[in-house]
This record gives sequence, C-alpha cells and structure tokens, in this order.
Amino acid sequence: MSPTGAVITGWGTALPDNVVTNAQLESRLDTTDEWIVTRSGIRERRIGGTVSSLSIDAGRRALERSGLAPEQVDLLVLATCTPDLAVPATSAAVHHALGLSGGAFDVNAACAGFVYALVSAHGALSVGAAHRVLLIGADCVSLLTDPDDRATAVLFADGAGAVVLEASDQDGLLAVDLGVDGSAHDLLTCAHGGYMQMEGKEVFRRAVRITVDSATNALERAKLTPDDVALFVPHQANLRIIEAAAARVGIPMDRVAVVVDRMGNTSSASIPLALADAADAGRLGPGDHVLMSGFGAGMTWASTLVRWATDSAGGMR
Ligand code: ACO
Repeated sequence: MSPTGAVITGWGTALPDNVVTNAQLESRLDTTDEWIVTRSGIRERRIGGTVSSLSIDAGRRALERSGLAPEQVDLLVLATCTPDLAVPATSAAVHHALGLSGGAFDVNAACAGFVYALVSAHGALSVGAAHRVLLIGADCVSLLTDPDDRATAVLFADGAGAVVLEASDQDGLLAVDLGVDGSAHDLLTCAHGGYMQMEGKEVFRRAVRITVDSATNALERAKLTPDDVALFVPHQANLRIIEAAAARVGIPMDRVAVVVDRMGNTSSASIPLALADAADAGRLGPGDHVLMSGFGAGMTWASTLVRWATDSAGGMR
C-alpha cells in the first residue's frame, strides 16, 4: 500500500539583503518608530528581490537540509500572491532553475497560502501523484505597497520560506481547517497595476477571531489541547494580533514563533519563515506538535497540526 502520510524533512529561507529600519521609514514618512512598534511590533523588514529569486534560494537551502538531490523532488508547490508575472506561474521558472522533476503550480490564498499549499501537497502525496514535494511560500509584498502610504508601507515586506515534504507511513498532518469569507473580500485588495488598499482596523478585528476559531478547530479535529502544542506558528502580520490570538487559544508566548519584529508581514512567506526560524533555533524535536495558522486577503484562513519528524539537524534518514 502506498504511504498516505507526509512529513517535513527539510527547511530553508531567503531574505533580501536590504534591511529597512523604522528609523529609515521615519525619515521619509509621517510616522514614528514608537507608533510602528506599539501598533505592530515591527522593528525592521527586508525589501527587495523577486519571488522567483527568493524562492530559488530558499528552495535550494531546504533541499540541502533534507539531503535530497533536486531531481528526486517530483512536485513544486509555490504559495504566492505576488507572482513575477501574471502568466506563467512563477513555480515554472523556479522548477527549472532548481532542476526539479515532475510538476509545478502556484497557489494564491494570500497570507493563508502556505497552509493551503501544504494541504495541496499532502493531497498529491496521498494519491501517489508525487513522493517528494518542495513547498515554498514566497512574496514580495513591497511591490504591491505604495511606498508613500504610511498605513501599509510600514507593515509589508519580502521573503521566502521553503520546506520539503516527503511521503511517509507516519501521519505527519494530523488535522486541517480551511475557510474563506468572501463577503469580506474588499477589506484588502490590490487591482492590477495598482497599490494595496486595506481597511486595517477591520482586518485586525477579524484576524484575531479567525485565527482563534481556525486554530481551535484544528486542535479539536486532531483531538489535542493547547497544552499539547510545542510550537504555534501564526501568520506574522502584527505582534498584537499574534499575542491576542495566542492568549485566546491558550498558548503562552514562549511556545509561539515570532519573526514579525525582524521581517514584517511577508504574506505567504511568513509562516515558513517563522517555522524555519524556530527549527534553526532548535525549538523543535521529533514528535512535537506544531500548529500553523494563517489568515489573509479574501478573507482566507487555514490551520493545520503537524507532527514534527526531524531532529534539529534536519533529515530523517
Ligand atoms: N504612523 C503613524 N500614524 C499612523 C500610521 C503610521 N504608520 N498608520 C496609520 N496611522 C494613523 C491613522 O491615520 C490613524 O489616525 P487618526 O486616528 O487620526 O485617523 C491612527 O494612526 C490610528 O490608526 P488605526 O488604523 O486605528 O491604528 P490601529 O491601532 O488599528 O493599527 C494597523 C493599524 C497596524 C494597520 C492595524 O490595524 C493592523 O495591523 N491591522 C491588520 C492589518 C493586517 O494584518 N493586514 C494584513 C492581513 S492579510 C495579509 O497579511 C495580506
């Protein structure tokens, strides 16, 4: 019988070299470091690159960590809402540059995209369509952000995070909760060729509620409690959203992954960046339960509970 489970066996990240501090934003926008830190928790962010270039770097690092050769990977799933081009999917160029086998496709579910992509990849593994998947979350949200709009320019940034997902007899994906409330799709929009428009206060209010409900649903489906969660990896939009959601779910901040202070909101990249940061810091061990939860434009949401399978050196073989 073909394996129906999947486990993460490698991870990697890529960030632009260009660090933009709050002090730099203060010098050109009507804002202050104090406002940005108090309202969002963000102290600096990385700006630059393209989704393909960041994806290639993050993907290569994840492959190295997993110990796989590129041609052993037979599917690439790239979560992004800022593709290099409208057509073709950016995953095609990344697939070629990395020398992968099999197919490739993009997933756009905004900041919930990485978890949607993880679920899609798991589905492909479970039906035998692929055996090893490279899964990347990458966005250059700065491209959609009006640099002169203080309400958004201080929040959004660029980056990529990747994981390798391999078919396994172990059940690595314990539960999933996916949803969208399309009636709220106009709260965060970006027209072709335009800049992002966001009703920040309303997004904030819904984000906390959505994250709490979705994370709780995933926990219940996995028959686990907040105490069973070794690491909560929420979407990194705003430290206040993260703190409020974690408190209501019942997970203390010492078991929450946070990179928003250093990286800002990188949309599809934020969950894999925070996951990789925690894994690199040795915060995860075999058997740990990891709860990931994203919300984003749409408004989409997606949560999943994963059983971590690798030691901090990566790889299981
Ligand atoms: N510097 C100084 N003042 C500012 C700035 C700034 N950068 N931006 C806005 N302000 C002003 C506003 O104009 C407003 O002034 P007013 O009271 O005179 O009208 C005041 O600060 C308060 O603004 P609010 O919007 O009420 O501030 P709030 O505490 O809600 O924080 C924020 C704003 C940070 C945008 C918050 O609402 C938020 O994080 N929302 C969620 C955003 C989000 O997560 N988006 C992405 C989700 S999906 C995805 O990731 C793609």
